[in-house]
Amino acid sequence: MSLDKEVAEYTAKTARSRALHEEALAVMPGGNSRTTTFFDPYPFYAARGQGAHIWDADGNDRLDFNGNYTSLILGHAPPDVVKAAQQAIESGLSFPGPTEWEVRLAEMLTRRVPSVEQVRFTNSGTEATMNAVRLARAFTGRPKIAKFEGAYHGTHDWVLVSVAPDPKTAGNRRHPKPVPASAGVPPAVLKHTVVLPWNDAEACEQILAAEAANLAAVLVDPLLGIGGVISPADGFLQRLREITERHGIVLIFDEVISFRVAWGGAQERFGVRPDLTTFGKIIGGGLAVGAFGGRADLMSFYDPRQGAARISHGGTFNANPATMAAGVATLNALTPEAYARLDALGERLRGGITRLLAGTRRKGQVSGVGSLFCLHWTTEPLTDYRSSRPKDAEQPLRMFVGLLNEGILLTQRGLGACSLAMTDEDVDRFVNALARVLARQ
Ligand SMILES: Cc1ncc(COP(=O)(O)O)c(C=O)c1O
Repeated sequence: MSLDKEVAEYTAKTARSRALHEEALAVMPGGNSRTTTFFDPYPFYAARGQGAHIWDADGNDRLDFNGNYTSLILGHAPPDVVKAAQQAIESGLSFPGPTEWEVRLAEMLTRRVPSVEQVRFTNSGTEATMNAVRLARAFTGRPKIAKFEGAYHGTHDWVLVSVAPDPKTAGNRRHPKPVPASAGVPPAVLKHTVVLPWNDAEACEQILAAEAANLAAVLVDPLLGIGGVISPADGFLQRLREITERHGIVLIFDEVISFRVAWGGAQERFGVRPDLTTFGKIIGGGLAVGAFGGRADLMSFYDPRQGAARISHGGTFNANPATMAAGVATLNALTPEAYARLDALGERLRGGITRLLAGTRRKGQVSGVGSLFCLHWTTEPLTDYRSSRPKDAEQPLRMFVGLLNEGILLTQRGLGACSLAMTDEDVDRFVNALARVLARQ
């Protein structure tokens, strides 16, 4: 089935969403507030979520493998998390000061992640990475930040570089050129950004050595999450640790997505200790959140005690009680057994998809770690951002809309996550739905 036919089936089922979108167009550019969730002709409007399911404004029920872009690790509206947030809200919606919940969530994060000696909360992963790069600059006195081609770290200027560039404009694969990911990113940002090729340790070593005197930080998503969940090659993250340590460069792990792959995040899973870590998504239990933390000597730049803090970090809703309480309840539910279950769901899903794709004409593969997975429409070995680009640029969207019509929600790019609300049958339903979409294409 062509994309047009899949879209026609989708629009036939989503009249109320279309009407809401038309109303929205009058008051919001493109009718929404979130670029990543938009797709043509309009996104469905969510009405309710429960467990592994999400319902739209037309009453369509879908199995949710998007989970608000990997945030909802327990599924929708888990009763203990809802209760914790409700209790916090009933005591007051927000306060101009700290609360006990904030202390408890900070304790939980520092206990789980030994590299995080101290932590501070924000309202988004974007604010977390923004603060982490600022801190690295303040600590080292150096101006530049290195990031990987294909890596997404939010929407502030310093990370809106080479997020999903067209390789034709992005220079040599082993020495990529900084490419702005948005209009409005000033030339100064490009001048101060060094772009690295994922999984190419030799190339990274050369680039970092050449730039070391000016480099404050290497910012790395240990799974290249939005770039396609491409696992680090054996020893790659360790090499980055060695190189950054040798050159006095701050190593920042952006674990906004990857924290969900183990009790102590990807850094535990891969055995690497960064200087700073950023968090988001699951640590707020489904509410707006971010956090950054790490070595106490670096984090002391935020300490306001002797006079003013060297870095000011305000935020009217930082560490707001509902988010903190929901975060505590969520992490309480994430026991070692829960991670084993999430891993098993992810493995079952990847196994099913791999067997399915081996028997179809459409060439693709699935990547992933733990509960995370990503569909790729190429047979090239997946090593970096460029190798994961689909041969047919329309294919990811065709699959996304096809799956919507089959009652499955993924992300447009093909990234997905299993939640603890899912059963083996739910995972098998995904594989069967994918088989039907592939069969009709
Ligand atoms: C690795 C990573 N860092 C940062 C962000 C930004 O987080 P937020 O959307 O909460 O600003 C994201 C969002 O998907 C992410 O995947």
